[in-house]
Amino acid sequence: MSSQVFHENVVVITGASSGIGRELALQLADQGAWLALAARRAEDLQDVAQACIEKGAKAIAVATDVVEETQCRALIDRVLQEYGRIDTLINNAGISMWTSFEDAEDLEGMKRIMEVNYYGSVYCTRYALPELKKTKGRLVGIASLTGVTGVPTRTFYAASKHAMMGFFDSLRIELMDTGVSVTMICPGFVSTEITRLDAGGGMADNDLVKENKTMPVATCCRIIIDRAARRKREEIMTWRGKLGRWLKLVAPGAIDKIARKVIEEGG
Ligand SMILES: NC(=O)c1ccc[n+]([C@@H]2O[C@H](COP(=O)([O-])OP(=O)(O)OC[C@H]3O[C@@H](n4cnc5c(N)ncnc54)[C@H](OP(=O)(O)O)[C@@H]3O)[C@@H](O)[C@H]2O)c1
Repeated sequence: MSSQVFHENVVVITGASSGIGRELALQLADQGAWLALAARRAEDLQDVAQACIEKGAKAIAVATDVVEETQCRALIDRVLQEYGRIDTLINNAGISMWTSFEDAEDLEGMKRIMEVNYYGSVYCTRYALPELKKTKGRLVGIASLTGVTGVPTRTFYAASKHAMMGFFDSLRIELMDTGVSVTMICPGFVSTEITRLDAGGGMADNDLVKENKTMPVATCCRIIIDRAARRKREEIMTWRGKLGRWLKLVAPGAIDKIARKVIEEGG
């Protein structure tokens, strides 16, 4: 189904210079989407756009820092100038952290997690929404399992993803009669740069995530595209995440122990 849905569909993807955003762009290019790719690293973004064009899709790279509201507005303006409409916005840009609250010395740096993950999504959505209403389009948010339950060493990250979930769950209700769908995606560990970088952009100094316990990025993106195509409201990606959601209602202490074990074991 998704291969027809995204053919000539104008899709804006934030955080498209690497990881999930990059792979989403490449898979959507295979379907003939008309792509607008946003992130800060202009050269990497241009490389992704070029790879999409070589697959026969249309693609533009728009260097954007989603923390800056004016840049988010400029991104949407540029997309409209190029394609004349927006059918899908995928709020994917994000940064993470790898330290306990007590060890997080740089609180300003931690605030940035909220600015990128939450406010970046809010700004892009704000300016894209009038256009999405015209096309009865799709809003997609890449949250996380940490948006559903708390996880140690991710305090600020989990807060930003809970904020995303609360925002988009509320917006979905506001948009009920407009034809615009809101799909929230909650991946577990996926093999990307985010599992190797800390919130300041430096490399994490130890082997925090076991590679064999991560989902391949291609698999993750196939699921995202399918759920967005079907306008599903939410996707919790791992069996542990699905179980955890129910367990949290009946035995919240048990899910806390599972979350601690997952982080201690790196996946
Ligand atoms: N990988 C996982 O295990 C996992 C699990 C659950 C959820 N997620 C979520 O998936 C999303 C993508 O992450 P990923 O795993 O693909 O990590 P990634 O490879 O590090 O990609 C993150 C993307 O976000 C962009 N970005 C960061 N700060 C930005 C800013 N201020 N403005 C614009 N773009 C910015 C980066 O581009 P620039 O540096 O070029 O700006 C990059 O393209 C994130 O929201 C993350 O929270 C990931």
